[in-house]
Amino acid sequence: MNKVIEEKANINVNQKTRETNGNQEGTVEKTNSIIEVNDLNLWYGSDQALYEVSMDVPQEQVTAIIGPSGCGKSTFLKTLNRMVEMVPIVKTSGSIKYRDQDIFSSKYKQEYLRTKVGMVFQKPNPFPKSVYDNVAYGPRIHGIKKKEVLDQIVEKSLKGAAIWDELKDRLHENAYGLSGGQQQRVCIARALAVEPDVILMDEPTSALDPISTAKVEELVQELKQKYSIIIVTHNMQQAARISDKTAFFLNGELIEFANTDDLFQNPQDKRTEDYITGRFG
Ligand SMILES: Nc1ncnc2c1ncn2[C@@H]1O[C@H](COP(=O)(O)OP(=O)(O)O)[C@@H](O)[C@H]1O
Ligand SMILES: [Mg+2]
Repeated sequence: MNKVIEEKANINVNQKTRETNGNQEGTVEKTNSIIEVNDLNLWYGSDQALYEVSMDVPQEQVTAIIGPSGCGKSTFLKTLNRMVEMVPIVKTSGSIKYRDQDIFSSKYKQEYLRTKVGMVFQKPNPFPKSVYDNVAYGPRIHGIKKKEVLDQIVEKSLKGAAIWDELKDRLHENAYGLSGGQQQRVCIARALAVEPDVILMDEPTSALDPISTAKVEELVQELKQKYSIIIVTHNMQQAARISDKTAFFLNGELIEFANTDDLFQNPQDKRTEDYITGRFG
């Protein structure tokens, strides 16, 4: 049984490797995908917001999503952990697989999905609790009660979010009293505390000053050693600086998805070129 799964996994890896090699002369780049989206359509009531989106999200890389306001970036991101379904009028078709499992299947546990595919929002949204209680929130919901265990998780998560040194003596202060940049990193720590492997970030630096932005960008680079990151950004320099792959959305369609350098230096679609050269959006 296990052997079959293992072989299947190997076949997938080989296919991906071959595809990638085919596209890029010479460079051997293994791109395993963690999420595979196929022919995804999404409607808010009768208004369609996503059209036939297909995209393989690479594992342990940073994928940027760019595109003009209203093109469906946030909708797409929230579909990946089924958060979008909190809007009751939403309907979807197509498939999304996370680690080869169909997340739209009636058997799929949404709780599990939201733990594994965590999300960080544009505006830092800490709870009105202490730093400690913010980070311990998820683990406590999962039934962890022992103080020593929670202490460890809180420390590890804050370290993972590059804010332990700044906050280790302020763990019991209310997170509302922190700067915006600190709040955002506490929110990242809160996401890390439940051991996700994908982190969705929706314009996580757009409400931050340049120094805090640089810190979060640096952090994203560190996080990709262990996590797969998808980051929506309206800042194309940011996408170019921090991502490995970039997806360009327009009017609910995925127009182009490529290695970030290729997309910015040699866009294949006229609409991508127009957008990145500032002709619209
Ligand atoms: N809760 C909602 N109800 C109805 N329409 C929505 C809702 N959220 C987003 N939309 C619509 O879906 C489209 C895509 O929006 P969104 O995903 O927020 O775009 P982006 O993040 O690229 O700015 C827009 O036309 C927007 O008006
Ligand atoms: Mg948005």
